[in-house]
Amino acid sequence: MHTGLRSLTSTEDPPVVQPQQRAWLEIDRDAISHNTAQILRSLKPGCDLMAVVKADGYGHGAVTVAEAARAGGATSFGVATLAEGIELRQAGIAAPILVLGNLQQSEEFRCCQHWDLNPTISSLRQGLIASNVAVAGGKPMGGHLKLDTGMARLGIDWQEGAGLLEELSKLDGLQLLGTYSHLADADNPDGRLTAEQQQRFEAVLRRCRELELRPGIRHLANSAATMADPSLHYDMVRVGLALYGHAPARHLNHAVELKPAMAVKARVTLLRDVPAGVGISYGHQHITQRPSRLAVLAIGYADGVSRRLSGQMHVLAQGQPLPQVGAITMDQLVVDATDLPELAIGDAVTLLGRCGEAEITPSSWSEPCGTIPWEVLCSFKHRLPRLPACTQH
Ligand SMILES: Cc1ncc(COP(=O)(O)O)c(C=O)c1O
Repeated sequence: MHTGLRSLTSTEDPPVVQPQQRAWLEIDRDAISHNTAQILRSLKPGCDLMAVVKADGYGHGAVTVAEAARAGGATSFGVATLAEGIELRQAGIAAPILVLGNLQQSEEFRCCQHWDLNPTISSLRQGLIASNVAVAGGKPMGGHLKLDTGMARLGIDWQEGAGLLEELSKLDGLQLLGTYSHLADADNPDGRLTAEQQQRFEAVLRRCRELELRPGIRHLANSAATMADPSLHYDMVRVGLALYGHAPARHLNHAVELKPAMAVKARVTLLRDVPAGVGISYGHQHITQRPSRLAVLAIGYADGVSRRLSGQMHVLAQGQPLPQVGAITMDQLVVDATDLPELAIGDAVTLLGRCGEAEITPSSWSEPCGTIPWEVLCSFKHRLPRLPACTQH
C-alpha cells in the first residue's frame, strides 16, 4: 500500500537539528583569556596562576576553558577527578595538572603516573602508595601536600604538616612539588577566619624552614583571596570563579575588571495573546493582571534553570528585561512580552549573561534560590549545546 510517507530506508541525508534550535550556552573564550590576563596582572610579581577547570570548567567546557586560560597566561590546571585530568591530557594539554580530589587506591596513583597528573597528598598512607607506584613504574611522581588549616575537609591537620612533609621527603620516587591549603571563608569581608588560616599556613612554612624542608610551590588563595589580599598570593593562586568572569563577593565586584564568559540563550517558540485573569503554567502561580502577550521559551529546569526561580527572574530580549511568569516547567518557561510587541517567534532571548549593555548575573539567580553563583554555573545540563560566542543566531 502506498502511504505517501517516504521510505525509512531512504538514502537521503536526514535533516539536521541545529544546535541553536531551542536553547544553548555561548562560551566566550576571549573573555576567559582576558580574565586570566587581568588577574595575572593583579598578582605579586613571580606569582603563577593555576586555572581551576573542575566540573567541566564550571560548566563552560573544561578543554575550551583550559585552552583559553593558557592563552591568557595560566601555567597549570586544577581538576577534581582523574577523569577530568585525563580529558585535558587527551585534548593535548601538556601543562601541569593537580588533582584536587582525594585519591586512595594504588590504581588511581597508577593513573596519575600514566597521565602525568599530580595527586594531592594528605597522609603518609597516600605518600607511601604514590612512592610504591613511582618506584614500580620507574618514573617519579610529583604531588602536592595538602594542609587543613581550618576547612576541615581534605588535608593533614596543619600541626602535623611539617612532620608529614619530612616523612614524605624521605620517600623514593615521590617529588613534593608543592604545599597548599584551602580557605573556608575568603569571600567574607570580615577576614578573621582567613587571617587565622593564613597564620596556620605560615606556621607550617616557618617550621619547614627550621627543619630545612622544601615545601615547593606554596599556594593558598582561591578567587576571593586572590582579589582581596596580595599577602595571600604566595607562589601561585588557584582561581576558578573569577576566570569565568564573576566576582566571588559583592565587595570584590570592582577589584578586577572581568567579563562574563557564559551566556544562556533560548528561542521563543510561541507567542499568544491572553486576556486579564488567565492562570499560567502548573498551579496557576501567576494570574495575568492585564491583557497580555505571553512568550513561551524552549528551556526549563531539565536544562538547568531552577524551578525555584519561578516568578523570580527576568530575561533580556532585544536588550529589554521581560519578567518570567508562572511555574518553570521541565522543558519550557513563559515570559510576559506585553511590553515588547516587536518580539517574534524564533527570536533568541538571553536568560543569563550580557545582551547589549544589559547583563543578568549568576548571583541574580543564586540569591533567590538560596545558593551561590558557582552552583548556578555548574547546573547547566548537556542538553544545552555549548557554542562559541559570536556565532550568528
Ligand atoms: C581546592 C580548591 N582551590 C581553588 C578553588 C577555586 O575556587 P574559586 O572558584 O572560588 O576561585 C576550588 C574551588 O572550589 C577548590 O576546591
